[in-house]
Amino acid sequence: MTAPDSERMDTSDTVRALETLAAVPVRYLIGSTKNRIVYLSNDGGTYTLWSLDVAARSPIKITDGPVASVEEVAIPRSVTDTVFYAKDTAKGKELHLLYRADSAKREESLAAEMQPMRIGGIGMSGETVAFTGATKDELAVFVAESGRIEKKAKLDSLAFVTDFNGDYIVGAGILTKDPRSQEHFIINVDSGEFTVFTPRAGSVNKPPFLNGSKLLFESDYTGKNKLHVHDMETGETSLAPFDHQDLLSYDAVESQYYGWTSEGKVWSIGKKDGESKAFVDGKEIPTPRGFLWGLALHDGKVYVTHTSLAQPTRILEVEPKSGRFKVVLDNPLPEHISRRLHDCRMVRFKSFDGREVPALVVEDGSGSPRRTITLVHGGPWGEYLNSWAILMNSLVLAGYNVVAPNYRGSTGYGEEFRKLDIGDPGGGDFQDIAASAKWALTNRIASEVAIVGYSYGGYSTLLALGREPELWACGVAGAPVADWKVSYELADAVFKQFGEVLFNHKMELLGERSPITYVKNVRRPVCILTSVNDTRTPMLPVLEYARELLEHGGVFELHAIPDMGHLLTSTQDVMDIVLPTVTFLHRRFPPAGSSKSAR
Ligand code: 4NP
Repeated sequence: MTAPDSERMDTSDTVRALETLAAVPVRYLIGSTKNRIVYLSNDGGTYTLWSLDVAARSPIKITDGPVASVEEVAIPRSVTDTVFYAKDTAKGKELHLLYRADSAKREESLAAEMQPMRIGGIGMSGETVAFTGATKDELAVFVAESGRIEKKAKLDSLAFVTDFNGDYIVGAGILTKDPRSQEHFIINVDSGEFTVFTPRAGSVNKPPFLNGSKLLFESDYTGKNKLHVHDMETGETSLAPFDHQDLLSYDAVESQYYGWTSEGKVWSIGKKDGESKAFVDGKEIPTPRGFLWGLALHDGKVYVTHTSLAQPTRILEVEPKSGRFKVVLDNPLPEHISRRLHDCRMVRFKSFDGREVPALVVEDGSGSPRRTITLVHGGPWGEYLNSWAILMNSLVLAGYNVVAPNYRGSTGYGEEFRKLDIGDPGGGDFQDIAASAKWALTNRIASEVAIVGYSYGGYSTLLALGREPELWACGVAGAPVADWKVSYELADAVFKQFGEVLFNHKMELLGERSPITYVKNVRRPVCILTSVNDTRTPMLPVLEYARELLEHGGVFELHAIPDMGHLLTSTQDVMDIVLPTVTFLHRRFPPAGSSKSAR
C-alpha cells in the first residue's frame, strides 16, 4: 500500500484526496425497530438517522440532521417503528429539542413542547421518553409524554439516563462526591422515589439496561470489569449468566456496548487492545478483525458495524448458527485513496515513571524515520482504536507517520488506568504524550515530531507547546481548552460538573494546568482552530490565548469557524478542521518527498 516518492502528492492533490476522505460514509448501528435496523450516518453530508430494510437492502434517511451522536438517540424497541432522538437547533451550540421519527418512512416531528436544552442520554418506552437535559444552571431528568415534559429529578452531579421501561428510569454517573467511582440512579416512576445503587462503595458501574426489574451493567466491583445483573426486586447482584464460554476466554478488558436479547439473554461487544468482538449469550459472533460499533438483533440475525483503521464502517449481517456473514451495507474506498492508507499496530512504551502506555502507530512501511505526528485523542476518557478515524487517516494521507498515545486516563485498559488522570489533568497524561514523541524519535519511527489534537487533544497540544517547547516542530490545536478558569465560568451545568470531576474538585489547580499560563514559552508555529458556536471548549479563552501569543511574538494561525460547534456533524465541518490542519502542516512541516520547501 506504499506510494513511491514519485507519486507523492502536492498540497492541491492532497486537498482533493482529503475531500474524498471527508465524504466517506460513516455509519453507526443503533438498534432495530419493528421492521428495520436504524443507524446514524453522514450519508448525504450531515449526520442523521437512517434505517435499512435488510431484506430489500433499501436504506432511507428518516430524519433531517443534525443528529450528532449515538448518545442523543434512544435505543429503539422491536415492538414499534418509532425512534426518539435529540436534535441541535442552534448550529452546533447543542441546544436540543426532542424529536420522533417513523423508521419505516421519512416522517419526523417534535415530540414535546420544551425550551431547548443540552440533551444527552435518552430512553424510550412505547410513546414515552425519559432523558437528561441541562441548562446553564441545572442538570435534570425529564419525562416526555403526550407532547409535554415533566421534570422528575434534579441531578447534583454528572450522570445520564441510559434506559427507561415505563416503570423505571435508570442511569449512571458520579452520584457520590468521589469522581473515581460511578453509581446508578434508579427512579421509580410511580412513586417518584430516587435511589442510588452501587454493589460496592468506590466501584465503577457503567450504564445499566433494563429487563423488567433487572439491570444489566458492567462493573469492576469484584476486581476486573465484568457484566453483572442486579435484580431490583430481590436486591441480588450476580455475574451475568452465559450458556457459552467464548466471552470468558476472550477476557475482554471492558465492553463497548451490551444489552438484552428479546429472550432475556445478554449480548455484548467486548474490547481488548484496540479491537473488539461481538458475543451473544457468551458465544462469539465471528467477524473480521477490527472494531465493532453497535449491534442490532433482527429476525434471528446479528447486525454489526465493522471497521478498521483502513476500512470505513460497513454493516455486516451474521447468521449466528453457521457464523457466516454478509456485507449488507458496503463501503469501498476508491483505490487511489486506499493505497495511501495503512494498517496500524498497537505498541506499548515505558513512560516517564516506568508505567507502560499503549500507542497506536501508523507507518508508511519504508522502515526509515519520517516526519511524524503525535496525535492526541479527546475525551480525555477516550482512545484511538483500530477503527476508521478521519483525522488520523487525513494525516496519513498527507504523508506523515502517526503515533497516537493512549495516555493515562484513556479508556480501554481498565479502570485503574482510566482513573489516573482524575485530579491530575495535564499532569501524568501530558508527560505520557511527550514520552510517546520521544519514544517515536528514539525508535526510528520519527525524524521530527509535530503535535496535533482536537478538544482535550487540542488542550494537550497547547500545553505541550508551552511546557516542552523544543520537542515539537509545530502544533495544531483544534477546539482546545486554553484557560480552565474561564472555560469553567462559561460552562453550563454539565460541563461545570465535568470540570469538577476531572480535577477531582481541586479547583486550585485550574491555573497551573492551563495552557495560557505557559504561552510565553511557546517557540514553534501553532495553528489554532476554534468554532464560534462551541459550548464545550468556548472560543473566548482561545481568543485570549491568541492575543497573548501575539504579544509574545508567537508565530500562529488562528481559524475562527462560523456556524459550527464542538461536534463535527457534517462533511463540511470535517473539512473545516482537516483542511487548515493539513495546509498548515504542509507549509511548516512538509513530509519528506513533498514538493514544498522546508519551514
Ligand atoms: P473533549 O474535551 O471531551 O475531548 O471534547 C473536553 C470537553 C469539555 C471540556 C474540556 C475538554 N470542558 O472544559 O468542559
